[in-house]
Amino acid sequence: MPSPILTVADARKRARGVLPRALFDYIDGGADGEVTLAANERAFREVALRPRMGVDPEVDLTTTVLGRELAMPVLLAPAGMVQLVHPDGAVGVARAAAAAGTLAVLSKIALCSPEELAANAPGPHWFQLNSAGGREEVKRLITRARDAGFDGLVVTMDGPPPGNHERDLRHGVVPPVRPRPALAARFAGQLLASPRWAAAMALAARKQKATVQGATRVLGSGGLHRSARFTWADIAWMRAEWDGSLLVKGVLVGADAIAARDAGADAVIVSNHGGRALDGAPATLTVLPEIVAAVGDTTEVLLDGGVRRAADVVKALCLGARAVLIGRPFVYGLAAAGQPGVEQVLSVFQTELVRVMRLLGCASPAELDTGMTQAMHPWTESK
Ligand SMILES: Cc1cc2nc3c(=O)[nH]c(=O)nc-3n(C[C@H](O)[C@H](O)[C@H](O)COP(=O)(O)O)c2cc1C
Repeated sequence: MPSPILTVADARKRARGVLPRALFDYIDGGADGEVTLAANERAFREVALRPRMGVDPEVDLTTTVLGRELAMPVLLAPAGMVQLVHPDGAVGVARAAAAAGTLAVLSKIALCSPEELAANAPGPHWFQLNSAGGREEVKRLITRARDAGFDGLVVTMDGPPPGNHERDLRHGVVPPVRPRPALAARFAGQLLASPRWAAAMALAARKQKATVQGATRVLGSGGLHRSARFTWADIAWMRAEWDGSLLVKGVLVGADAIAARDAGADAVIVSNHGGRALDGAPATLTVLPEIVAAVGDTTEVLLDGGVRRAADVVKALCLGARAVLIGRPFVYGLAAAGQPGVEQVLSVFQTELVRVMRLLGCASPAELDTGMTQAMHPWTESK
């Protein structure tokens, strides 16, 4: 009987026990020295919450993000390769999100097509893409996503090139990674050491084959390495092509948030790709105030990177985020137990959010503000 998932750290531990080491490291790792990866989490620990007494709020976590009502201010970030993590894959992730009253963003490289996701999981659905393949490819994907009923588009701007993932390189995995038999052969030893995962994947193999074929078509021919980076002109062009919600992901500087808004974005996602792109980029929580000051009155600001506990969500909202996205936490849950594992991770966030909000003396996300925070170590910082 596996131990219950009480924290994201529990889910991570179980993921580590289940997955082949190379796959766990692909999920868990960051770029270069993993400085930004570590800084994302540390930034939350450096902010303290200032609870108010004498009130006994009835907590309601409901919020809206770009007009959609969500049961809590936590969304699931786009994550590539989830179909290799567990046979439940992106469909299981989206179902778990829907069961928790929130939504998951489908990564272009999740190895699940927009059509398959829409046919098998309740919406709303959002699709994420990058600049691989240029405008022609983007146009093709936008059309497919729209036809499949997707109503949100998340445009990732922080690559190419992709970050330098040293853990992957040490395993001999050289991007662009595509699921191929040769890759499986190279990892035969790791597969033997992960019998539960290997058995589940073998069982799902036939379906997996169809999925991977479909997804490879989604990936198309343009690799991220060979592509040009998106410019603000591309965002303005996408704005004209796409009438759903348009979110720009990867913003870390106030001036870029303004440029995204002026190009037509409805929201910006403050993100350093979970420390997987430019190592040395700032922790997302530390730049959130600058971005909220730049565009917060006119544009919704979301944040991801390092959110591991309900108190982290509350801190980001206090500093002006409309909602947060989690990446690794739900992927660990998926690895640990498939869709139910993702549901457990979301349930931990939901339950603990109610507790943290009540302890803080706040009834709803709308009541959170900067005044409820301070530095965790004010005296050491002023030295
Ligand atoms: C395994 C994995 C795959 C990812 N794949 C993508 C992707 O395909 N597109 C994208 O925009 N971001 C991708 N990301 C970044 C996430 O969307 C998100 O920015 C990041 O995970 C947030 O940080 P966190 O993992 O600390 O929560 C990926 C992250 C992980 C962990």
